[in-house]
Formats: sequence, C-alpha cells, structure tokens
Amino acid sequence: MSEFSNNNPEQSALGEFYLRAGIAADIEAMALLTERASAHSVGEPLPPTIPNAAEAYGELQKRRHYDGYWSHLAFDADKLAGFTAGYSGTWKGEDDKTNSQYLWLLMVDPDYQRRGLGRALVRVAADASKQNGAENLILYAASDNTRESKLYESEGFEKVSSVLSDTQGELAKYCLKLK
Ligand SMILES: CC(C)(COP(=O)(O)OP(=O)(O)OC[C@H]1O[C@@H](n2cnc3c(N)ncnc32)[C@H](O)[C@@H]1OP(=O)(O)O)[C@@H](O)C(=O)NCCC(=O)NCCS
Repeated sequence: MSEFSNNNPEQSALGEFYLRAGIAADIEAMALLTERASAHSVGEPLPPTIPNAAEAYGELQKRRHYDGYWSHLAFDADKLAGFTAGYSGTWKGEDDKTNSQYLWLLMVDPDYQRRGLGRALVRVAADASKQNGAENLILYAASDNTRESKLYESEGFEKVSSVLSDTQGELAKYCLKLK
C-alpha cells in the first residue's frame, strides 16, 4: 500500500497507488519503465517506436517540450508503477490541437499489471483532457495488440480509422469523445 509523502501536496490517491503530474526529473524512471513494460509484451506487438530505455529517454525529453505536454505518474511508495503521457493535437497532426489531446504512452510495470492500473490511468488522462477543454482523446494502437484494444474499447474509445506507420505496421486510430 502506498503512503502519501508529506511534502508533495499535489499528489492524490489512485486506488492502492498515489498519483502526481510528472516533472523533468521523472524522465529517466519513465524511460526505464517503458523498456520493462515493452519487454513484457513479448508475444504481442510492442509499442515498437520505443524499443529500449535510451530511445524512450530521448523521445520523452523531446516530446515534453511539445504543446500541451502532460504526464501522470502512479507510484507505490517510491516505486514508479505506471504512467501515461501525451500532448495536444496528435502524432499525425491531422487533429485540431485546440480540441484534441493525444494519449501517446500508457505503461504499467509488469509487477503491477492486471490490477486495474492501466484502466485507472486511461481514466485520469480522459478526465484531465476534459478538464482542459478537449473534446476528443485520441490514441493509436497496434491493430493486433488485443490487450490494448480490449482496454480502450471497454473505456468507450471507438476505432475511427487505420494508418500505416513506417516502423509499426498498421495502427488503429481510436477516439474517445469527451463531450
Ligand atoms: C496495456 C497495459 C498498459 C495494461 O495495463 P494493466 O494495468 O495491466 O491493465 P488493467 O489491469 O487496467 O486491465 C485493463 C484491461 O486491459 C485488458 N488487459 C490487460 N492485460 C491483459 C492481458 N494480459 N490479456 C488480455 N487482456 C488484458 C483487459 O481487457 C483488462 O480488463 P479486465 O481486467 O476487466 O479484463 C500494460 O499491459 C502494459 O504496460 N503493456 C506494455 C506497454 C504497452 O503495450 N502500452 C500500450 C501502448 S503505449
């Protein structure tokens, strides 16, 4: 069971975890977790744009400067258990930045998977996007990553199109209407 730290008033409870917005100093832990979570997807397609921690670190450093970047991190005491990150607009750039938020990454450490944390983080991203005035939460998922699709569809996301990525093959574009 997580314990609240007395010196961070911004954190809140998320089930058995505690939640706070990410800061620059979190990037390394987020990159390491991305590698661990991705490795655990063996047998299913990985989120293949980010094959290892070094590349994840570079991408996280780059994208945290994008318009409207956000991240929400879930901790078990001091251990990062999962996170989600995104920004305004979308990866493909075809959606209006003023009304769409892009859920770029959703990562749960293998030690904490299948406890509802992935679902809880999707809800956090949706609630925060809605509070910021967005009408849509967009994401792209590997078409054949069944665990991801199940999660998103059960949270109300609808598949709106398919796109072909150079590195990831066919991706399904999902949209959650927030209004
Ligand atoms: C996808 C991921 C975030 C799910 O996190 P999680 O905390 O284990 O998910 P939850 O426990 O909240 O499960 C939510 C739903 O996802 C689906 N799901 C999760 N893991 C699954 C599995 N191993 N097999 C089948 N369905 C699964 C189920 O529909 C589940 O709902 P249910 O528990 O009611 O059956 C996690 O597996 C992960 O980090 N994977 C590697 C990274 C990745 O692929 N990220 C997404 C792309 S950025």
